[in-house]
Amino acid sequence: MNKVIIAPSLLAADFRNLEREFEKINSSEAEWIHFDVMDGLNVPNISFGFPLLEATRKLTDKYIDVHLMIENPSKYFEEFKKYGADGLTIHYENQTNIKEQLQAIKALGMKAGLVINPNTDVSVLEPYLSELDLILIMSVFPGFGGQKFIDATYDRVKQSRRLIEDSGRYIILQVDGGVSLDNSQELIGAGADALVCGSALFKENDFKGYVVKLLGK
Ligand code: DX5
Ligand code: ZN
Repeated sequence: MNKVIIAPSLLAADFRNLEREFEKINSSEAEWIHFDVMDGLNVPNISFGFPLLEATRKLTDKYIDVHLMIENPSKYFEEFKKYGADGLTIHYENQTNIKEQLQAIKALGMKAGLVINPNTDVSVLEPYLSELDLILIMSVFPGFGGQKFIDATYDRVKQSRRLIEDSGRYIILQVDGGVSLDNSQELIGAGADALVCGSALFKENDFKGYVVKLLGK
C-alpha cells in the first residue's frame, strides 16, 4: 500500500474501449477508481449511473469511490451498494440531514465521505468529523473534467488537515479537479492523501508511469 491513494477518474476514460482502459488502471499502482455520478440538477452536466457501475465492478477489484452530484442521493444508497460501490461521497451543498445520510452510508458497509465546493468554507465540515471516513476538497467547480486547478485549494487542504489532526480520527483527505503533476506534490505536502486525476492521467501514453510520478516516487 502506498502512502497516497491515486484515484483515476473514469469520466476521462475512453468509453470506446473500456476493457483496455481497465487493463491500464488494473495494472497500475492506482488503488481506487473515482466514479462521478451527475444528474444535471446539482451540476450542469449528466454523466453515468448504475449500468456502468455494475460493469466497472466486473472489470476491476479496485476500490470504487463514488462521488455523488445528484438530487436526493440517499434514495439510491442501497442501489449503489448493490452495484459495487465501496464508498459514497455526498456534497455538503443543498443537503439536509447530512449526519443521518453519512450514518446510512456506513450502515450499508461503505465508507462515508463529505465533499465541499471551492466556495464553501472548510469549517462547515467540523460538525461531521465524527461520522466521516473521507473529506473531499473540490479544486474545481464540479460538473466537468479537464478544468483548471484552483490555487486556493492548497490552503483549504492545509486547513482540512488541521481539522482532521485536531479530531484525532483517521479521515482520508482527497482532492478532485485539475490534479496533475503540476500540483500533486504540493497537494501531498499540504496534507492530501488521496488524489483524483482524470484528464491529465488518461491522456498520457504511459498511464502507469504517470501514476508513479503522481505518487511522488
Ligand atoms: C468534476 C469531477 C472530477 C473530474 C476530474 O466535477 O468531480 O472527478 O472527473 O477530472 P479532471 O482531473 O480532468 O479535472
Ligand atoms: Zn469527482
